Amino acid sequence: MRLYINIDHVATVRQARRTDEPDPVRAAVLAELGGADGITIHLREDRRHINDRDVRLLAETVRTGINFELAAADPVVDIAVELAPMQATLVPEKREEVTTEGGLNLASASVRDGVAAALRRLEAAGTRTSLFIDPDPDALEHSAGLGAHAVELHTGEYANAGRDAERAAELARLATAAELGHGLGLAIHAGHGLTYENVVPVAALPHIEELNIGHSVVSRAVLVGLERAVREMKAIVLGAPDRVPSPGAWVPPKGF
Ligand code: PXP
Repeated sequence: MRLYINIDHVATVRQARRTDEPDPVRAAVLAELGGADGITIHLREDRRHINDRDVRLLAETVRTGINFELAAADPVVDIAVELAPMQATLVPEKREEVTTEGGLNLASASVRDGVAAALRRLEAAGTRTSLFIDPDPDALEHSAGLGAHAVELHTGEYANAGRDAERAAELARLATAAELGHGLGLAIHAGHGLTYENVVPVAALPHIEELNIGHSVVSRAVLVGLERAVREMKAIVLGAPDRVPSPGAWVPPKGF
């Protein structure tokens, strides 16, 4: 089982202020030190979080491997082909959505044509390919027909299921899809909406070899890191001299 950490959410916080922190490139280093097997990023067409600078720097600095999520659209496929990441996952993209809603609609011939063209280009670049799909038999058949190496099963319905029975039904759907996909020769990944509380049953499903998790990990990082961050800021504030002659005269405390 590989754990890939999605760092888009770090970039989302940065973009809320259009500043340079927190930097997803630094977050990727820490995720790798924490044991991430790979770094997942989604270069959206509207660049709402990860941007071109991030992708290029991450391509140079990530030591594990990048799972590059992208729409099957030429401008972003051009970038993926140029950088040739370890893996690319094609996802559907709608501008008005808050996050990726549902898997690729492979029942549509025009979507399939777009995906097929992107897959050909990514494969020629030497990148492993994956398709983000709902845990649905038709989507799995189409994915195998299109020649993708892997599918990422969308776990959002499972994550959002309210009652136990509903959640058990969604888990069974994922299990069936994993079995079918494996039988079709596809590698099976899963992700979206997975948390510290709900991940174990998914991680325990047969054939699933990679999980992509972002929001829950970044959310926890804010909480487990907040106390230390406040303590450090307080030490700086309390260490300020009574009167600072000019802003340039401030020197960071030793060890900061
Ligand atoms: N997989 C895909 C294809 C996604 O689009 C996302 C969300 O960016 C994830 C996994 C990670 O989802 P979450 O942030 O809810 O863990």
